Amino acid sequence: MKWSFPSLLLSLLLSVVRGHRIAPKVMILSMLTLASGRKFDGEADVWYNIPEFDVLTRNITIPGLSPLFPQVHCTKDGDICQLTLGEGEINAASSVAALVHSKDTSLEETYFLIAAIAGVNPKIATIGSVTFAQYAVQVGLQYEIDARQIPANFSTGYFGQGSTAPGQFPVFIYGTEVFEVNDSLRKLAANAAKAAKLNDTADAQQMRAQYAQNPDFAAANNVSGPSIVLCDTATSDTFWDGDLLGDSFDNTTKLWTNGSATYCTTQQEDSATLNALMRGAMTKLVDFSRVIVMRSASDWDRQGPGMTVVDQLLGPTPGFNPALLNLHLAGVKVVEMIVNGWDDQFSRGVNATNYIGDIFGSLGGVPDFSFGPAS
Ligand SMILES: *[C@@H]1O[C@H](CO)[C@@H](O)[C@H](O)[C@H]1NC(C)=O
Ligand SMILES: *[C@@H]1O[C@H](CO)[C@@H](O)[C@H](O)[C@H]1NC(C)=O
Ligand SMILES: *[C@@H]1O[C@H](CO)[C@@H](O)[C@H](O)[C@H]1NC(C)=O
Ligand SMILES: *[C@@H]1O[C@H](CO)[C@@H](O)[C@H](O)[C@H]1NC(C)=O
Ligand SMILES: *[C@@H]1O[C@H](CO)[C@@H](O)[C@H](O)[C@H]1NC(C)=O
Ligand SMILES: *[C@@H]1O[C@H](CO)[C@@H](O)[C@H](O)[C@H]1NC(C)=O
Ligand SMILES: *[C@@H]1O[C@H](CO)[C@@H](O)[C@H](O)[C@H]1NC(C)=O
Ligand SMILES: *[C@@H]1O[C@H](CO)[C@@H](O)[C@H](O)[C@H]1NC(C)=O
Repeated sequence: MKWSFPSLLLSLLLSVVRGHRIAPKVMILSMLTLASGRKFDGEADVWYNIPEFDVLTRNITIPGLSPLFPQVHCTKDGDICQLTLGEGEINAASSVAALVHSKDTSLEETYFLIAAIAGVNPKIATIGSVTFAQYAVQVGLQYEIDARQIPANFSTGYFGQGSTAPGQFPVFIYGTEVFEVNDSLRKLAANAAKAAKLNDTADAQQMRAQYAQNPDFAAANNVSGPSIVLCDTATSDTFWDGDLLGDSFDNTTKLWTNGSATYCTTQQEDSATLNALMRGAMTKLVDFSRVIVMRSASDWDRQGPGMTVVDQLLGPTPGFNPALLNLHLAGVKVVEMIVNGWDDQFSRGVNATNYIGDIFGSLGGVPDFSFGPAS
């Protein structure tokens, strides 16, 4: 770049204002780095030693991050950074809160790309696919009684806090039940990701064919293999499995969003991550319209035909490697879209046409997913 006097002045001024703060265009959020030295082990590892950019050029230690993953990793120019949050809701919320409120970061213009693996509902998508969510629903935030002790007329042991039976709207509201992100940005990201040639393997194809014996699982046995899918995500610290819990949380997802969200991927962090980002947005430290929730499908949320739930939970997961590889293959298209389109489009941001934020309207506006009992 050729420095003109005004641009030099501007850049000096910006660096005085920001000090040594990192101000990336894109922050990739991974949940786990295995750092075992083996390739393709963790979600973070797929962003290291890649041809497109090197996020291991600058490591910035930030107080309050996970003791296992204490550093943000950035490219030399600081445009692209990657942070591993740690797994589960508590780690995700704590790490993102530390990042957002750090004196070492300036994230007002940063796009956040959640890039992690998930379970998948075989009614909606298949293993290896890369999904982009508009809604994150905290399905674990409910009463639970053991399945062996549920009344004969209950369909599930999960029901809303303060309610008296499954299917009723919760009475005690915590505020983190549903988050909605920018749908225009989601669609831009998904379209960019469609340019990727996704990874697939013979083992994954074989697993899909087994699921295809159930006609409800047509999406699981897509002959064209994994694809980019627009569908929503469910969060719980409990790693649940099986068709009954899947259907129960599918019902919760529909109830809490008045049918707007599609129960598709299952994971342990996104509602927590989004809550911490939204808290940052409330004091303008973060632009909540710049958040992308990308989850690739590594395994099923329920057993296939001829399998027990435990077979599925503890059995082989041939979707795991393709799902990890596809985080990079699809995600890098999203990163490039933002960085390459920065001056023309993304620096200004994308105005969401849908409601964004939590169930309270904390960022302004009124939730369009009708959280509340049906009137
Ligand atoms: C940044 O940290 C990673 C390990 O987390 C290391 O491999 C890399 O060499 C570090 N980079 C620098 C410039 O120190
Ligand atoms: C279940 O049955 C109990 C009585 O045994 C009744 O009080 C309750 O309303 C029923 N709940 C539902 C959801 O039907
Ligand atoms: C997927 O990745 C594996 C592991 O690198 C590789 O062996 C395989 O050829 C890839 N498949 C496709 C379709 O790219
Ligand atoms: C199969 O994948 C293609 C894209 O590869 C998609 O358009 C189609 O909707 C998928 N079919 C099902 C049943 O999911
Ligand atoms: C889900 O809701 C449907 C419709 O109300 C009900 O028939 C079904 O039993 C529910 N499933 C579970 C597991 O709660
Ligand atoms: C959603 O994102 C798009 C693309 O970045 C942006 O133009 C738009 O303003 C955003 N919408 C809202 C409501 O912020
Ligand atoms: C987004 O909306 C704001 C106000 O509603 C407007 O000032 C701004 O120009 C819009 N940005 C884009 C990129 O359309
Ligand atoms: C739920 O959605 C339906 C349309 O699908 C609408 O008629 C109804 O008013 C909505 N409920 C609430 C509580 O907004």
